[in-house]
Amino acid sequence: MSHQTAPDLTIEGLVHDLNNIFETIQEAADLLAKDPKQARLAAALRRSAGRGSRILNSYLEHSQELLDFELILDSAIEFARDFLQAVKGPQIEFARQIEPGLRLRGNPAGWERVLVNLFLNAAQAMESDGTVEVSAGRSASGIAIRVSDNGPGISPKILPNIFDPHFSTRAKRSGLGLHIVQTIVRQNTGSVIASNGPSGRGAIFDIELPNA
Ligand SMILES: Nc1ncnc2c1ncn2[C@@H]1O[C@H](COP(=O)(O)OP(=O)(O)O)[C@@H](O)[C@H]1O
Ligand SMILES: [Mg+2]
Repeated sequence: MSHQTAPDLTIEGLVHDLNNIFETIQEAADLLAKDPKQARLAAALRRSAGRGSRILNSYLEHSQELLDFELILDSAIEFARDFLQAVKGPQIEFARQIEPGLRLRGNPAGWERVLVNLFLNAAQAMESDGTVEVSAGRSASGIAIRVSDNGPGISPKILPNIFDPHFSTRAKRSGLGLHIVQTIVRQNTGSVIASNGPSGRGAIFDIELPNA
């Protein structure tokens, strides 16, 4: 008898079991796709399950790749659109201003999570359809990424607390989204701050990544 931790209790075991669940969802999506009326939903479900396993597997990878920011952004926008379509959320227009050839160091699933969390928060804050703007480029000290929206903005009273784990102003929410965003940005030695537009409306999230 071995006295080592049973493999099914390790993170590898968890990843394995959850991957089986994502595979089940993929198979269910394939079945659903046979009904032409459900084809779009099936495709969104399949992509979501694929992303779920990519995020999960990223816990086992510690590679620091050089990533094409535009590709990560495309994937995050598609993720947010799939999600909002599935939950019948507001339609979001995405506007972008990205310096050509911009590359980030890190893990693709991690950066995608950062952007998706910011996009979904923006969508969830909007009363109706709105716009999210993403700009990114090299700055004097490294790379600057800004995600802003034209929603109601963040009340100044709660601005100091929004990155705290479990802080949420909405019912039945985990309040973990921005904490995850901050954790991933800090793992990449960067910082993230939140503010509002000049009129007090429209939330702005600024991510700064220093030069390696
Ligand atoms: N774009 C935004 N516009 C307005 N408020 C926001 C925005 N993003 C985040 N917030 C506020 O920050 C809080 C925390 O966000 P988050 O950590 O993602 O948790 P959750 O989305 O589960 O509430 C939200 O409940 C909301 O009050
Ligand atoms: Mg959130």
